[in-house]
Amino acid sequence: MKVAVLTSGGDSPAMNAAIRAITRVGIHHNCEIFGVFGGFQGILNQQYHELNSRSVSRILHRGGTMLTTGRSEEFKTEEGLKKAAKFLKDQQFDALIAIGGDGTMHGLDALSKHWDGWLIGLPGTIDNDLYGTDYTIGFDTAINNALDALDKIRDTAEAFQRVFLVEVMGRKAGFIAFHVGIATGASAILMPETKTTIEELADVVTKAKEKSKTSVLVVVAEGDELGNAHVIANALGKRIKEEIRVSVLGYIQRGGNPTHFDRYLATRLGAYAIECLLEGKQGGMVGEMHGELKMTPFKDTWTHKKPLDQWMLGLLDELSGISSTD
Ligand code: F6P
Repeated sequence: MKVAVLTSGGDSPAMNAAIRAITRVGIHHNCEIFGVFGGFQGILNQQYHELNSRSVSRILHRGGTMLTTGRSEEFKTEEGLKKAAKFLKDQQFDALIAIGGDGTMHGLDALSKHWDGWLIGLPGTIDNDLYGTDYTIGFDTAINNALDALDKIRDTAEAFQRVFLVEVMGRKAGFIAFHVGIATGASAILMPETKTTIEELADVVTKAKEKSKTSVLVVVAEGDELGNAHVIANALGKRIKEEIRVSVLGYIQRGGNPTHFDRYLATRLGAYAIECLLEGKQGGMVGEMHGELKMTPFKDTWTHKKPLDQWMLGLLDELSGISSTD
């Protein structure tokens, strides 16, 4: 079986671990594995070469992606899709495995209408916003990166007894903000999944101060409906008549050595993708739900919404101590 593999969209830590597992397990089962460079655009530009076991040495511990990535506008067009399908057909590829986020799953779904080869997606995004897997590859590393940064911000916030708004990534989803906010004891977490007004936020911050909190951390998801952290800080500052400090963590969240969790998940899903191909299972994204390996049709990965942990969500005020009567 001749298999192409690519990474697309925002890179995420442990994409490399997935590429390594796909390559080595694939070769073990007599597949020929070809790496495509620069995401879907790499198919259109015919930038690819065959991988062997040694090509994927010394990448397991590295962030980023050895195949490089991209977001291709050309691939989204009818002509682009037809061109990609022709190339894959002409080069006699049997299958394509793409690692990425929801844009990647959209791309695979669109390609399936033009090419009759086998298609499999792997969830590679720090945002964790794909249905069909409890966790996406890279999410754990990103939240640990953010956690590390927030712990440091907490030190300086305490020294000055300041209010800090810290913006994290996540696109339209609040998974990063939610997990990091819980793990750093944030007084409030602003996310697209929950609606909070400036008045409510001001109330939380005031209460936290009344409870003699030495610092107040608010975690803001970049996709929050109130706007970005600077906009929110401005409005909040005016309301509570205090200068608010802002820190936007940005791309630091996406880099660095992947955690054990991400390397293990990526390796497991990469190996499973090959197993699926060998068994003739295709047309969806592989993932792990409640410890079990699954394949979910591409469309379901973005049309079904993965919820935040509702029970933990309900505990936020209790955990931050704001609702306590002592
Ligand atoms: O989807 C991953 C992600 O890091 C988002 O959290 C963020 O909004 C976006 O990518 C940034 O994209 P770019 O790398 O194109 O700036």
